[in-house]
Amino acid sequence: MAILPILHFPDPRLRDKARAVTTIDDEHRRLVDDMLETMYAAPGVGLAATQVGIAKQLIVFDISETRDTPQCLFNPQVLSTDGISEREEGCLSVPGVYEAVTRAESVRVRGRDREGKTVEFEAKGFLSHCIQHEIDHLDGKLFVDYLSGLKRSRIRKQALKRRREKS
Ligand code: NI
Repeated sequence: MAILPILHFPDPRLRDKARAVTTIDDEHRRLVDDMLETMYAAPGVGLAATQVGIAKQLIVFDISETRDTPQCLFNPQVLSTDGISEREEGCLSVPGVYEAVTRAESVRVRGRDREGKTVEFEAKGFLSHCIQHEIDHLDGKLFVDYLSGLKRSRIRKQALKRRREKS
């Protein structure tokens, strides 16, 4: 397994639209393992392949407190939504920023697991927000897009300043 470098906002690759994964083979299972290791090391509760510069429809997540329930979904799709709720979100691609985002309170999701089997389930609350956040990444969308333009440009300026300081 390997820890992959995570892209940071405003890297343009975070705007790429991910392609569906047609063959779930050992190479893709290795990517799942690497993404999970990267997510746990960060540490974070979710990671999309887009965030490690791979434009493929794959997300991993683990919202358990014990950090022992790794999950992955290839080609995840929201089938239906119900209700709305506001929750504070953060993102490994936008370090240090936490803001309230309004999303569906529950979603019905379909995708394929690491063996390629189709799975469908209902996610509520924090898990619902987490999965919607990760699926957004596959569409090139970031949680800061839900904030006001003023807030987003402030976050962009801070990110660029941090990048200048690092290099
Ligand atoms: Ni994120």
